[in-house]
Amino acid sequence: MNRATATDFVIDAAPVIPVVVIEDASRAADVAKALVAGGLPCIEITLRTPAAMAALEAVAGVEGAIPGVGTVVSVEQMQAAQRAGAQFAVSPGHTPGLLDGAEDLGLPYLPGAATPAEMQALIERGYSNLKFFPAEASGGAAYLKNFATVFQSIRFCPTGGVSLANLDEYLSLPNVDVVGGSWVAPKSAIQAGDWDELTALARDAIKAANVINA
Ligand code: 3PG
Repeated sequence: MNRATATDFVIDAAPVIPVVVIEDASRAADVAKALVAGGLPCIEITLRTPAAMAALEAVAGVEGAIPGVGTVVSVEQMQAAQRAGAQFAVSPGHTPGLLDGAEDLGLPYLPGAATPAEMQALIERGYSNLKFFPAEASGGAAYLKNFATVFQSIRFCPTGGVSLANLDEYLSLPNVDVVGGSWVAPKSAIQAGDWDELTALARDAIKAANVINA
């Protein structure tokens, strides 16, 4: 597995990776269908609920969806998620054990980094696609901009506090092609089964991204 390019398909699929928290696995397929219909195929199911693994399996069965697992903090979680159909894994940070685990499993991995030292550790390991987390709390787009010149090989996926309101700040940076966020899959809409709202939020995000890239 080429560590530098393994997650290109995640970064390049669409301008937003929905970060999804699923309480009830029976809703996961509908969530995925709604987001795919809105143009966001890469879907990160976070390991924050007991329903997450079953949700991943359900998303893996949705045509056009690219299921990923998020909030990964152990290799065992990576293994279980891969068995459930995850095509990629994301972590808030990273550890040598997680990097080794992803490489052994051949699971495309988007490790997290928020400081120059963390970024350099990942460059040393051959990674070039990184999650920048927590984006807003760490200094936001103004902070991330500094790394465009010093770490020219790195493409970041900022996540944490990103929304339609600040999407443009991030996507207009030369080192950002995609952001992650939960705003396109709000808990309230999932609970209400309002799939049209999810599709509309996804379309709005794409529309905003297209304006920035135009
Ligand atoms: C994540 O899991 O990556 C973040 O918690 C998502 O952050 P958000 O809810 O602010 O989008």
